[in-house]
Amino acid sequence: MTEKSKKLKNVQYVGNFEHIFKCPICDSSMKVCEFKSLICSNNHTFDFAKQGYLNLMTHPIKTKYNKELFEARKKLIVDDSFFEPLSQTIVSSINKESNVKKENISILDMGCGEGSHLSTICNMLKPYHKKSIIGVGIDLSKEGVLVASRSYNNKVWAVADLANTPFKDKQFDVILNILSPSNYGEFNRLLKNDGLIIKVVPQKGYLKELREAFYSEDKKQSYSNKDTVERFKQSFDLLSCSSLYYKMTLNKSSIQSLLKMTPLTWAVKKDKMDLFMEKDFYNITINLEILIGKKKIKREG
Ligand SMILES: C[S@@+](CC[C@H](N)C(=O)[O-])C[C@H]1O[C@@H](n2cnc3c(N)ncnc32)[C@H](O)[C@@H]1O
Ligand SMILES: [Zn+2]
Repeated sequence: MTEKSKKLKNVQYVGNFEHIFKCPICDSSMKVCEFKSLICSNNHTFDFAKQGYLNLMTHPIKTKYNKELFEARKKLIVDDSFFEPLSQTIVSSINKESNVKKENISILDMGCGEGSHLSTICNMLKPYHKKSIIGVGIDLSKEGVLVASRSYNNKVWAVADLANTPFKDKQFDVILNILSPSNYGEFNRLLKNDGLIIKVVPQKGYLKELREAFYSEDKKQSYSNKDTVERFKQSFDLLSCSSLYYKMTLNKSSIQSLLKMTPLTWAVKKDKMDLFMEKDFYNITINLEILIGKKKIKREG
């Protein structure tokens, strides 16, 4: 498929769901015009990039998450199935908790990065759902969204801030928030009344082999989720909180990807990383906490 026809396909797909958008400047409704732009009723115009994604930021933002990080993340997720047990767990939860008899199921990935989680999860859900699955992924990093839109069709991809999203209220059945920051006020605004929020945070053992190699005992970057569950419970009815623990054997080439894909190595010197890469393979620990919640329904009177 040429780049032009790929863009057209992506734009057409977004056109099917133009009703979910609101203008990031004036909050009014938006429409796809001439297969080129998303325009609001006050003529604020956002052009599609040539890969077919939308940049809906009102001011440019530079983040430390770059193309190299996202390419490495994609390689680990797609080629090495690094997060496969996580995807399986999320799909089972969606099937168990959400109303699967619905005509359509709409999923918003908040902080989607390079899009592989959303794409994998939508593909895994397909056999269970008769009707369509609408996948929307947003991220603050243009580099991530660019990789996502180049790699995966039939999704809505947009550069946007998860704390201030360009979507109308109550548009989504499921919100995914995987290893990314949260904004629970915004998540609540976007979820339908019977919607589901799935938040994934790192736990104590997550990538511990990297932390053991790169950080001294006193500075060892450890994750504490003590407050995470409490804060989540203040905003949502907690349905479950489960822990996922497994190990993956990675060879030299995948270890290179691992070192590039995580912010854990941002502060690490090159000679330490070179030393780490001398071994032929590692058993790497993945330890995550999965929080699943429903919207708190305010009762009248
Ligand atoms: C560790 S990465 C995780 C990406 C993806 N969920 C994954 O698991 O591969 C964190 C992501 O959060 C994004 N992010 C950080 N702040 C954000 C914000 N305010 N709005 C949208 N995305 C944000 C970053 O750009 C980055 O892609
Ligand atoms: Zn507008």
